[in-house]
Amino acid sequence: MTPRSLVIDTDPGIDDAIAILLALCSPELDLQAVHTVAGNCPLSEATPNAVSILELAGRTDIPVFAGCPRPLIRDQQYGKFHGRGGMGGDVLPPAVGRAAEGHAVVRLIERSLSARARDEKLSICAIGPLTNIAAALSLDPSIAQDWQELVIMGGGLRVAGNRTPYAEYNFLADPHAVRIVLNSGAEIVLMPLDLTHQAMATPARIETLRAAGGRLSDIVVRLLTYWDRGDIARFGEPGGPLHDPTTVAYLIAPELFTGQKMYVEVDCETPLRYGHLVADWYGQTDNPPNATVMTGLDAAGFFALLTERLSG
Ligand code: RIB
Ligand code: CA
Repeated sequence: MTPRSLVIDTDPGIDDAIAILLALCSPELDLQAVHTVAGNCPLSEATPNAVSILELAGRTDIPVFAGCPRPLIRDQQYGKFHGRGGMGGDVLPPAVGRAAEGHAVVRLIERSLSARARDEKLSICAIGPLTNIAAALSLDPSIAQDWQELVIMGGGLRVAGNRTPYAEYNFLADPHAVRIVLNSGAEIVLMPLDLTHQAMATPARIETLRAAGGRLSDIVVRLLTYWDRGDIARFGEPGGPLHDPTTVAYLIAPELFTGQKMYVEVDCETPLRYGHLVADWYGQTDNPPNATVMTGLDAAGFFALLTERLSG
């Protein structure tokens, strides 16, 4: 089977790093580029973090393109929980190389148009604020047709926000970008907190990953150990939610996920509700569905996939 051409747009970020490594360890995917965006940390940290992750995996053949350094309209809000430098302090070695020349937004348009010229489609995993994606769609709205799917980690529906009572971080960070993307006509698959909170990297699952070994095992275990929130009240168990890797796992094993097509929209007007994602669960508006929202995860299957691939 021909591997899918994949671009990951990311703000690495600890769970972002696991998502990138999962893509690199999966023959179903041909990761063609990593695009960085400000989010968990400033772009000046996210970009070398992405370079360092690819160096760690021995894949410096894959280019990193830096994207937007700030949200489209609202004030900058950085992520939390990722530690100094956005990658758990000193867990990752410092990057040796540099990002490639060119802006991620321009490169995404170019790559989408060249896929079109070959009568092919691009798959995209967007696992940070959607600023780059929205900017590319604003410059050339036609590229939405060149994407097989745009798999987004973001939003929370029946699960409260993780940065405000209403909003998940990626959508809070740039709600205007979310609105542009949701209205773009792209084939969107959404992994909200409702889904990603089922993907808890518990101590037992981390131990399974450690015992499985592999050349990435040590760094993966260190990253996931740092990621443990210890927030039993919120998650019901120890560990950290592996938000971003669910987007890559969907491209590899969609059968692990269940969801439904529905219309969703984001609040950009009410400061307290900035980034709040509202879902038309029962078709009560006249709006056609604009996303496939995933709410069910085979968590055991997800971690079995993660363990098998990352221990390679
Ligand atoms: O809310 C979860 C999202 O915000 C993930 O993408 C994580 O990396 C953080 O940036
Ligand atoms: Ca992220």
